Amino acid sequence: MSAPEEQKNVLLLPQTNQLLGLYSIIRSKDTHRSDFVFYSDRIIRLLVERGLDQLPVEKHTVTTPLNVDYEGVGFLGKICGVSIVRAGESMEQGLRDCCRSVRIGKILIQRDEETALPKLFYEKLPEDIADRYVFLLDPMLATGGSAILATDVLISRGVKQERILFLNLLTSPEGIRNYHAKFPNIKIITGGIDDKLDDKKRLVPGLGDFGDRYYCI
Ligand code: PRP
Repeated sequence: MSAPEEQKNVLLLPQTNQLLGLYSIIRSKDTHRSDFVFYSDRIIRLLVERGLDQLPVEKHTVTTPLNVDYEGVGFLGKICGVSIVRAGESMEQGLRDCCRSVRIGKILIQRDEETALPKLFYEKLPEDIADRYVFLLDPMLATGGSAILATDVLISRGVKQERILFLNLLTSPEGIRNYHAKFPNIKIITGGIDDKLDDKKRLVPGLGDFGDRYYCI
């Protein structure tokens, strides 16, 4: 995919040496779980911050301790997080670290390891989700099947595409294409776009199974 950062509604984190260093750690098969968790969390924090940058603001003036007015801004609108269980739950704390007591919904989708097709098992979302900006959380976007199914659930609950920000650590050109073919107005915020999927629909070069590495191995 050429110049992905220029694609509409794909916000790729700046590929700084720091970020590339973080990805080199989590991609390595020699990285143990505690380091994998620590460095993934650092990337997640960057994704959340980039997502928060996208929220609308309004002018808001405050008075400083010097009794001088400062013309700043205040956030407009409420947000919530929705994680695609299991791997997406790893991103909840990063959102909570930035937004105290943020509401979190969950959608349980698992990809069948044989067919690579996603299946929806469970959803629990805030009642007023249609009135909120939604941070959809899943570290991996491979074929896009899981994210599309989760987004269908959000849309069926009245959430507008323009109010969804999909945060992930790693994606593929195919996943972005498939997702945007259905939801062109949803911003994908990612830290990396891999070259391709292999015949088992895994990201290549990838980082393995994120959920296993974050929670189990
Ligand atoms: C992984 C990942 C995504 C999905 C990506 O989850 O976290 O949800 O696969 O693949 P797709 O874009 O082709 O749908 P998995 O189903 O392995 O479950 P997990 O969260 O328990 O690891």
